[in-house]
Amino acid sequence: MTDVADRLEELRDRGLHRRLRLVGGPQGPSVLLDGRPVLLLCSNNYLGLADHPRVRSAAADAANRWGAGAGASRLISGNMEPHRQLEERLAEFKRYEAALLFGSGYLANTGAIAALAGRGEMVFSDELNHASIIDGCRLARAEVFVYRHRDTEHLAWGLQRATGRPALIVTDGVFSMDGDVAPLESLAQLARRHACRLMVDEAHATGAIGPGGRGSVAAAGLSGEVDLVVGTLGKALGAYGAYVCASRELTEFLLNTARSFIFSTALPPPVVAAAQTALELLDSEPQRVQRLRSNAAVLREALAGEGLAPGGTETQIVPVAVGTAEQTMALSERLLERGVFAQGIRPPTVPEGSSRLRFTVMATHEATELREAAGLVGEAAREAGLSESTPVAA
Ligand SMILES: Cc1ncc(COP(=O)(O)O)c(C=O)c1O
Repeated sequence: MTDVADRLEELRDRGLHRRLRLVGGPQGPSVLLDGRPVLLLCSNNYLGLADHPRVRSAAADAANRWGAGAGASRLISGNMEPHRQLEERLAEFKRYEAALLFGSGYLANTGAIAALAGRGEMVFSDELNHASIIDGCRLARAEVFVYRHRDTEHLAWGLQRATGRPALIVTDGVFSMDGDVAPLESLAQLARRHACRLMVDEAHATGAIGPGGRGSVAAAGLSGEVDLVVGTLGKALGAYGAYVCASRELTEFLLNTARSFIFSTALPPPVVAAAQTALELLDSEPQRVQRLRSNAAVLREALAGEGLAPGGTETQIVPVAVGTAEQTMALSERLLERGVFAQGIRPPTVPEGSSRLRFTVMATHEATELREAAGLVGEAAREAGLSESTPVAA
């Protein structure tokens, strides 16, 4: 039997122990954290839609009309009008034939990968893919080849060795802890050349990049060409849940084989209605995406002005490399004392030695508060003896 107390002690010794903090109120640009006001720089409520009045009302109305929960899996009795409507809207938004809702991004990735990559087949996965993709690979009965981050030559080498075996290439569109974008044109070319499927997780790309915030696949002009596009409803769309966009045939296949779809209760109607309204707002107010992008540029530039080297490229995810888990958490605490909340990211979320502060901006931040925050980051970093940082390894 695992000695839980020893394991917890070990996590504490290695600076890897985690605890929950309490946020008071909705996910705005500033929040009360454990009762203290702080600037929130680690929420994925990128477009400020989680607390938008219309999104809140949609959830409340749906709760009154449809109830709080769906009562069962979609395939039992949980399939309701809001689910069908949102799937139609998502497919239209992403320019795909069909969409299938899942309980969360974690469930979409684990379910889809395990369903699509069976025994005797292969999955090719970027080494910095999100944990839910890694776990999907673990659940799949296929052989897994992990290629170096964004390294299409390494991937091509792996694909060559697997010739003839059905295969799936899977990647984050925008990498969740690094903020850089996958080389989708090259991945699509390789998928075509080797006749394998390509799956892109747009958890951090939807609402953030591409025309109208349609994501990294649309930005690369590959809508419809990438076989499966996963998106989440809990980040830029401010609600909860996820979806897979694909051909009608592929979504029907997932509906019949993805265990996380089949054996899990359908999303609650208020959440589905909230996501649908958020999607409408994204469509009608594209300036939110623009504002998110300009805020990201402001923070990057201001951090660079402090002698720090923010990673990522143009996205709203702005990592600053620190080093060990202990150093990272200590810096996060120093920042908190100054009223800035940026979460320290440690193993196993990122590789050993690459712990970092991961800043995320929102469209609802003011440029001035982002510049001020960068000044405080610089001050805290100097105080911690981290005068100049190098970009997170990419
Ligand atoms: C790239 C990526 N995929 C999937 C997920 C999981 O999505 P969800 O939070 O909806 O489970 C996340 C983050 O949570 C993510 O960053």
